[in-house]
Amino acid sequence: MDSETRLEDFLAVVASDPALELEWIDLLSQLEYVGCRKIVKGVGFEAVSLEVIRHVAEEASHALLLKSVAEASGLPPRSWREGRFSAAGWRYFQGLDRGLCALLGDPGLHYPAVSWAVEERVLRLYAACLRVTRNESLKRVLRTILAQEERHGASFGAASFPEGFRDAARGLEGALWREFIDEIAHDVKRGSLFSRNAR
Ligand SMILES: [Fe+2]
Ligand SMILES: [Fe+2]
Repeated sequence: MDSETRLEDFLAVVASDPALELEWIDLLSQLEYVGCRKIVKGVGFEAVSLEVIRHVAEEASHALLLKSVAEASGLPPRSWREGRFSAAGWRYFQGLDRGLCALLGDPGLHYPAVSWAVEERVLRLYAACLRVTRNESLKRVLRTILAQEERHGASFGAASFPEGFRDAARGLEGALWREFIDEIAHDVKRGSLFSRNAR
């Protein structure tokens, strides 16, 4: 089974359980927020441009839109620390950030490199979420977010990196992403076994 099919299967399981989907939407909001923080921390004060500010604002708005959908759909206000998949999300992003930065000598490339890798992932992920979810508010929000992610993706896709970097980065990101999804899928499977045994 290819990884896109596996992802859609996983997302279909998530979309079939409203409580689980709320956890998932809240996790996406967390990832957007962490992405936003990485930009703020990764770009030096002297290098902040109109485009950087726009990028920060749009990623913050993605976190806001997703958190708003989660709470409007029934998730109680809470810390991300209480999220069922919060730790897995944190590990994915930290691993990606550290791993990609370690591949590059020039610190000036850290921001475009991490942004490029994240955009490659979210474009496929959000398109797949849009295909499977039945939550109409989430669909609306995903369409808005996707339009902005496409612009970000095109902009960082045009950045120039050292030879071989993109392939190495795709390998690293792909491995971290599989670990992330496997960890969540394992937790979901264990949870459904527990609830079946409890009946
Ligand atoms: Fe985003
Ligand atoms: Fe983005």
